[in-house]
Amino acid sequence: MKIRKEASPQKVREFYESDLPRRVRARIDGNRRIDRAVDFMLPRIDSDSRVLDIGCGIGVATERIAAAASNVEVFAVDISPAHIDYCQRTVDAENITFKTVDVIADFDELEALVDGDIDVVTMVDVIEHLPRPEGREFFEKLGRLLSDEAKILLTYPSPQYQRHLYDTDGARIQAVDLVLELDDIAALADCADCQIRHFSYVDVWRRDQYIHCELAARLDCERFEPFDDWSSASLGSKAQICSQFLRQKARKVLRPIRKRKYILSPSEHNDSP
Ligand SMILES: C[S@@+](CC[C@H](N)C(=O)[O-])C[C@H]1O[C@@H](n2cnc3c(N)ncnc32)[C@H](O)[C@@H]1O
Repeated sequence: MKIRKEASPQKVREFYESDLPRRVRARIDGNRRIDRAVDFMLPRIDSDSRVLDIGCGIGVATERIAAAASNVEVFAVDISPAHIDYCQRTVDAENITFKTVDVIADFDELEALVDGDIDVVTMVDVIEHLPRPEGREFFEKLGRLLSDEAKILLTYPSPQYQRHLYDTDGARIQAVDLVLELDDIAALADCADCQIRHFSYVDVWRRDQYIHCELAARLDCERFEPFDDWSSASLGSKAQICSQFLRQKARKVLRPIRKRKYILSPSEHNDSP
């Protein structure tokens, strides 16, 4: 992993505050990276979730998460007071609480803010900006805020794209900007008592430019429940349920035919070379 320079929290804050006008322009014109991130996150957030959006910036993704369901309760934090001030003045949503918090230095403030279990943590393009080894400690503490079924949703530049930037366009590298390999993410997940449940490369402006990743509680090897509840909403649309039903019926009809075809008699076994 590379860090361009050791940046103090003050330097990180100054860096993002100087970037605020560019972000506001992106808010007005739209931003494909954030669109993709929101598309990834929304289906993974239940309508009554308590969501913690870390490094919310000027609140673009935050606002869309909160708008998806009025029962969602969102806590959104950022290290930059200017960003949080901008959010408080421009994002009009009763189900969001914005607060300036440096999640590395002031975890207690974060804990006091959420005051209870969190169901979904969202970090849109943030994890690569948390320094190490502090990021690991942060994930350990974050793990203690999570409900049993909680998810941590991460979007960040793919390691290959980060390396490409380091090699070709160093000016775009931010105050702290890590190259995160799959192993790094697995180690962070472990700190939070989680494991990787989804990992994909996503095209944004370039092919395979970003990673979308879901961390969730480790699977319990003792308790494998059969997954045959057709009334469950997570099984998807009526069409999917219908095709599953037809496949099961077809399987019953085909079973004797397959038995005749595939189960060899002892003499047939003996004939084999
Ligand atoms: C690349 S920006 C992403 C902002 C926003 N999520 C988005 O996608 O537009 C990274 C954000 O993380 C915030 N950040 C960096 N270090 C932080 C820390 N220690 N605590 C809280 N926020 C932090 C920065 O201020 C910045 O707004």
